[in-house]
Amino acid sequence: MQLYSATFLFLVCTLSPSSFAHEHKRQTCRNVPGSAGYPNAAAWSALNATIGGRLVNVVPSAKYCASLPGGACTDAQWTSALFRSTIPGAMNQARGYDLTPPSLCLRNATTCGQGDVPIYSVEAQTVADIQVAVKFASANNLRVSLKASGHDYLGRSTAPKSLLIHTGNFQNLSLTKAFMVGTQNMGSAATVGSGLHTQVLYQKLKVNGKIAVGGTAATVCAAGGYLQGAGHSAVSPIFGLAADNVLEFHIVVASGQLLQVNSISNPDLFYALRGGGAGSWGVIVSATFRTFPTFNVTHSTIQLAASSNAAAGALAAVHAQHIFDLDSVKGGQYFYLDKISSTSTTSVLTLTTYMANTTTAHGTALLAPFLNAALALPGVSLVEQEYLNVNINDVLFQSDDSVGINVVLGSRLIPAASYRDAPATVGTVYEQLLDAGTTDILGHLVAGGQVAANANISSAVHPAWRTAKTHLIAVNGWTDATSLADIKTLRTKFQTTQLPIMEKMSGPDAGAYSNEADVLEPNFQTTFFGPNYTKLSAIKKTYDPADLFIVPGGVGSERWDQWGLCTV
Ligand SMILES: Cc1cc2nc3c(=O)[nH]c(=O)nc-3n(C[C@H](O)[C@H](O)[C@H](O)COP(=O)(O)OP(=O)(O)OC[C@H]3O[C@@H](n4cnc5c(N)ncnc54)[C@H](O)[C@@H]3O)c2cc1C
Ligand SMILES: *[C@@H]1O[C@H](CO)[C@@H](O)[C@H](O)[C@H]1NC(C)=O
Ligand SMILES: *[C@@H]1O[C@H](CO)[C@@H](O)[C@H](O)[C@H]1NC(C)=O
Ligand SMILES: *[C@@H]1O[C@H](CO)[C@@H](O)[C@H](O)[C@H]1NC(C)=O
Ligand SMILES: *[C@@H]1O[C@H](CO)[C@@H](O)[C@H](O)[C@H]1NC(C)=O
Ligand SMILES: *[C@@H]1O[C@H](CO)[C@@H](O)[C@H](O)[C@H]1NC(C)=O
Ligand SMILES: *[C@@H]1O[C@H](CO)[C@@H](O)[C@H](O)[C@H]1NC(C)=O
Ligand SMILES: *[C@@H]1O[C@H](CO)[C@@H](O)[C@H](O)[C@H]1NC(C)=O
Repeated sequence: MQLYSATFLFLVCTLSPSSFAHEHKRQTCRNVPGSAGYPNAAAWSALNATIGGRLVNVVPSAKYCASLPGGACTDAQWTSALFRSTIPGAMNQARGYDLTPPSLCLRNATTCGQGDVPIYSVEAQTVADIQVAVKFASANNLRVSLKASGHDYLGRSTAPKSLLIHTGNFQNLSLTKAFMVGTQNMGSAATVGSGLHTQVLYQKLKVNGKIAVGGTAATVCAAGGYLQGAGHSAVSPIFGLAADNVLEFHIVVASGQLLQVNSISNPDLFYALRGGGAGSWGVIVSATFRTFPTFNVTHSTIQLAASSNAAAGALAAVHAQHIFDLDSVKGGQYFYLDKISSTSTTSVLTLTTYMANTTTAHGTALLAPFLNAALALPGVSLVEQEYLNVNINDVLFQSDDSVGINVVLGSRLIPAASYRDAPATVGTVYEQLLDAGTTDILGHLVAGGQVAANANISSAVHPAWRTAKTHLIAVNGWTDATSLADIKTLRTKFQTTQLPIMEKMSGPDAGAYSNEADVLEPNFQTTFFGPNYTKLSAIKKTYDPADLFIVPGGVGSERWDQWGLCTV
């Protein structure tokens, strides 16, 4: 293992509380306010002093809004990921809405509990801040949560009664033409801090004529949860998954040590960090990715309306028949089907397609067979279409992300064979999902091509990615007025209603992309991590023997209750 800085040595010598390891074994619960072992005010104060005053009291976002001049956030602020990134307690989606008794802090509420929002946050500025926080949490047996952007759909970047370690300030970006792993030159690469937003990454890479594998998002942190889950992109068919392109990590593990992690140094952790799930391994400081020459794409947006569920199903079947049409240019595509309202029979399919180094004429021609077949269907009509030749960085760049909604996801990786062998079944599945009340079915053509070709990479990326063609999400959402009983039904709807339908096209053992998935997956070990969970468990034991880093649906979480507060 290699050390990052001299600061680390100092911390090990002065702070390492090695005698606490035994106490952990006897304890079955984390220390929470009121427990005998919970740090007193003086201890928190001392921690704060050690980290330059960067310990903050965390409040739920609604409470934060209430404290603003005027006593509320505007709708524009509430739904802005950029605005929320300035609030330590703000998460973007699913939260602890079913705590008993309910203590969620809803927008404009007159009473506010803490819900599953952490109590304190270390707004880390330095690696030493992270190391101090990790050691303090470990020594005091605290529940820890980690956050980069707070984008997580599974609620994994927050935890009740926890100490949050927030890496949003780690915004560094450095580029090199020759990144070395040991004596091997890995070529052009970018080292990205774990707080750097995707939008900034694309802008800075463009100035340097480069692109990397990243999401279509503004504030998702490429070197945070995105990468640990695998990380898909519209350019994945060309370059592979984000995890396939990472060359090195710097991470603070449970011992407080800062490790350099790559194919030579701590290779077992390198395996786990690439697909083994977000938030389960330590606090990532930075990751180094391959970069590629930037290029232009034909960027096409097509919207089609379907007047009934049957028409939408027929449209999905035609889409499935033509999904391989883009293979010659390793095209990426998002194909989102949304009901125009929950009571309407009409849905709209929005297809956003990225075709590298392709003229608009060629791009239009590649999509024409699909479009013509779609428009020949009864009940299907064209809303709009557009084909532009644009720089890939510019088109992946998003100015903000629209968040602040109550939503849960369920998903499966759909094998290429399903599209090839049974496109009609794809249509049937869509129609049945809509009939079952599904309002949004989000398709991602982000696999095949180089994702499949990277099957020989030894990493924790679920092997299902290598044979998949798409990643398909069913969305379930609600408003603040929805009752807890109805929320419970919606939270379980993927397992009870939608998955049995989706399995007709995915097969029974398809995996799911852990970053955009159902946190209630009963067999998350295989669904998220494939056939080799035992290997991940062993790596977890090596680097995090006391389960300091536990997230729902993450490696080791089977030993803990849903809040990660007590062992089961
Ligand atoms: C608008 C939007 C667009 C998206 N687009 C894409 C896309 O195109 N492709 C794609 O693959 N996914 C996409 N996602 C999903 C995204 O990958 C996940 O939400 C992911 O969890 C975000 O990671 P984050 O670190 O930014 O978020 P956070 O919510 O901050 O963290 C997510 C997880 O990572 C852990 N984590 C955070 N920081 C660290 C750290 N420094 N060290 C260790 N663990 C950490 C957290 O504990 C948590 O478990 C999108 C999500 C949204 C909301
Ligand atoms: C930590 O110290 C800073 C600076 O002294 C102070 O502003 C802040 O309120 C303290 N945090 C807590 C949680 O007390
Ligand atoms: C909360 O208050 C703001 C500002 O008054 C208002 O714009 C918004 O619609 C309200 N939202 C809800 C859910 O009540
Ligand atoms: C990255 O940024 C953090 C926070 O600003 C800083 O403490 C750290 O030294 C930087 N690391 C590198 C490698 O530049
Ligand atoms: C696009 O074309 C440029 C110039 O020929 C080349 O450098 C680049 O690798 C190509 N990119 C892709 C993704 O095909
Ligand atoms: C690439 O796209 C940009 C717009 O983003 C455009 O200005 C430029 O002319 C395009 N370059 C080529 C070679 O087509
Ligand atoms: C995977 O196979 C390709 C060729 O098929 C080879 O170039 C590459 O080095 C292999 N990668 C690994 C990690 O074995
Ligand atoms: C599981 O891990 C073991 C040990 O590293 C390895 O030999 C085996 O090939 C892996 N199996 C699968 C299916 O990935």
